[in-house]
Amino acid sequence: MSVAVPGRTYDVTIGEGVLARATEHLPPMPAAERAFVIADAAVAERYLATLAEGLEDARLRTVHLSVPQGEDAKTVQVMTALHRQLATQEAHRSDPVFALGGGSVGDLAGFVAATYMRGVPFVQVPTTLTAQVDAAIGGKSAVNLPEGKNLVGAFHQPVGVVADVSTLATLPEREYRSGLAEVAKYALTLDLELLASLEADPSPVLRREPAALERLVARCVRAKASVVRGDERDEGGRLVLNYGHTLGHALERLDAFASRSHGEAVATGMVFAARLSEATGRAPDGLVARHVRLLSSLGLDPGAPLPPPEEVLGAMRMDKKYRGGVRFVLLEDVGRPFVDDGVPEDAVRAALEAMVPTGGTDR
Ligand SMILES: NC(=O)c1ccc[n+]([C@@H]2O[C@H](COP(=O)([O-])OP(=O)(O)OC[C@H]3O[C@@H](n4cnc5c(N)ncnc54)[C@H](O)[C@@H]3O)[C@@H](O)[C@H]2O)c1
Ligand SMILES: [Zn+2]
Repeated sequence: MSVAVPGRTYDVTIGEGVLARATEHLPPMPAAERAFVIADAAVAERYLATLAEGLEDARLRTVHLSVPQGEDAKTVQVMTALHRQLATQEAHRSDPVFALGGGSVGDLAGFVAATYMRGVPFVQVPTTLTAQVDAAIGGKSAVNLPEGKNLVGAFHQPVGVVADVSTLATLPEREYRSGLAEVAKYALTLDLELLASLEADPSPVLRREPAALERLVARCVRAKASVVRGDERDEGGRLVLNYGHTLGHALERLDAFASRSHGEAVATGMVFAARLSEATGRAPDGLVARHVRLLSSLGLDPGAPLPPPEEVLGAMRMDKKYRGGVRFVLLEDVGRPFVDDGVPEDAVRAALEAMVPTGGTDR
């Protein structure tokens, strides 16, 4: 599948076993000698050798640059260490940087590739469901500051994305389910066929059958690419990708709830957005119930308890995007998202109170 960005397109290759033949799916890099592959130790142990063998066949020597696992990799310190390793090894401008791993490694490696020598070729090899359906597509890269997530970053599109769905077999269950929340997001906001197939039978996806995963990842990539194409630099159109994320981010910001995975927080956020859509009369009754059914069938717990409404509102006010009212992506129905820029706090408070389990939850 091709993703168009202004001035060029790049291929996103999705399949079983494509990791071993990554270069076949990338544009030729005749001047490149070495591939600098950024990966944490756990991912490298499983998948680096397979990737490296294929690169070797294309006369690219692999240099592994190791980073901490997960979000801990996305720091200025780790980034600087990588810049310096590239410099001491005399990486040159044609040598590509590869991200092999989840979204954290992708975001970090993308920013390193964007900034080392003002930009070197970058290849995404996502190995988590979240990265395959979301983080690896769209060209956003970033590291965190103590003051906040993703505060330093750049847009740097990859020359290619190679998503091997067989790597998802080793993903811990919780990571996998977290990715399924983003899948549900695409299904509910943008892809009614995907929604119908998940509603009809989620079991092939839950069993991580490669053929089902290949279709699923492809549909999600197509959905994300279509949105990103119209809004490469994140100036408005991409907002629908934030469905469920207004409350989701607020929950992640509240320490007592930070143990929730991103996907779990987004799942709760989507149920909340559906509730707000119903409560403001924009969506038909039944939307909330449909969300709860879908998310539960994917192993997510949309009825998980919420903090007190005032705490949530406080966390929402800290959002970069907060402007008086709260900005939400809502649905007129499944497949029909719209952005409401100023949902009054009273409406948010009322919907939160309706969510707080005072004896009964949404289920
Ligand atoms: N740039 C974007 O558009 C975008 C979009 C969504 C998320 N993100 C970012 O992505 C990050 C989250 O990414 P994530 O959810 O992929 O998790 P992650 O990258 O933070 O962590 C992944 C964890 O799973 C392990 N892992 C990775 N692949 C594995 C595999 N195949 N088998 C077994 N273990 C494996 C890793 O070792 C690591 O511990 C966040 O920092 C978020 O901000 C960016
Ligand atoms: Zn998300």
